[in-house]
Amino acid sequence: ATTLGAAAAQSGRYFGTAIASGKLGDSAYTTIANREFDMVTAENEMKIDATEPNRGQFNFSAGDRVYNWAVQNGKRVRGHTLAWHNQQPGWMQSLSGGTLRQAMIDHINGVMNHYRGKIYAWDVVNEAFADGNSGGRRDSNLQRTGNDWIEVAFRTARAADPAAKLCYNDYNIDNWTWAKTQGVYNMVRDFKSRGVPIDCVGLQSHFNSNSPYNSNYRTTIQSFAALGVDVQITELDIQGGSATTYANVVNDCLAVPRCTGITVWGVRDSDSWLGENTSPLLFDRNGNKKAAYTSVLNAL
Ligand code: XIL
Repeated sequence: ATTLGAAAAQSGRYFGTAIASGKLGDSAYTTIANREFDMVTAENEMKIDATEPNRGQFNFSAGDRVYNWAVQNGKRVRGHTLAWHNQQPGWMQSLSGGTLRQAMIDHINGVMNHYRGKIYAWDVVNEAFADGNSGGRRDSNLQRTGNDWIEVAFRTARAADPAAKLCYNDYNIDNWTWAKTQGVYNMVRDFKSRGVPIDCVGLQSHFNSNSPYNSNYRTTIQSFAALGVDVQITELDIQGGSATTYANVVNDCLAVPRCTGITVWGVRDSDSWLGENTSPLLFDRNGNKKAAYTSVLNAL
């Protein structure tokens, strides 16, 4: 195979990228994105602030631009994200208690109803666990509505679109020895044992010197998969752009049948949320394939 998407498809997997609606007029960008990837995540356009800027008033214009570009070019779409402490619109930031809980439910219903039947997997809840050694939940307005907010979000999501896979997505849950990883693992195990609907875990996989790739990544993927959920690598970028590390990530996913796909968080280094100078992606600013690209293609 000569593209990432086709190479991943050889083992029944996908290879995706984050797409920014504001770059869809850049033909250098869309040419690479269309050629190489077969799964799309909207980088910001399906988040809470974008889709419900005023309470009860939904706006899907930017989300639909990304969605339509993807589908018109034969790609599937991951939905990102429905319940998160970040990128909440101002009106939601100021809510609490039962009012916020209901607003979360209404938001999930509003967005999932619009995209009903059209999304491969939704990141239903994003980044709900704390960094550090607690293994517990992150404090947030959503968390303060009660510890059951995550399962309420998943039950709401299942009813809203039974066709979508429902994922829990987070960063710093790739290192098996970290308390945060164990906290999420225990939640997923509990959800599976109690029949709370969850289909997948998203490992964001933003690797840098503070959160480096670790060779226990494969153990993490295997351990989540053994709970009976798919694992998806949802936001991969590697600061410094090590070709070896990129190959390790691919090999670890391919070693686990339930690791169903990999998404990189942007197309060219100059598109990265981390800044071009960190060289985290697979193409340089001129659209040239980097060593990391070749390494990924050969590993797939
Ligand atoms: C980032 C986007 O890439 C930026 O454009 C935006 O300014 C902030 O959010 N974890 C996530 C993603 O789940 O939604 C974040 O995306 C990166 C970290």
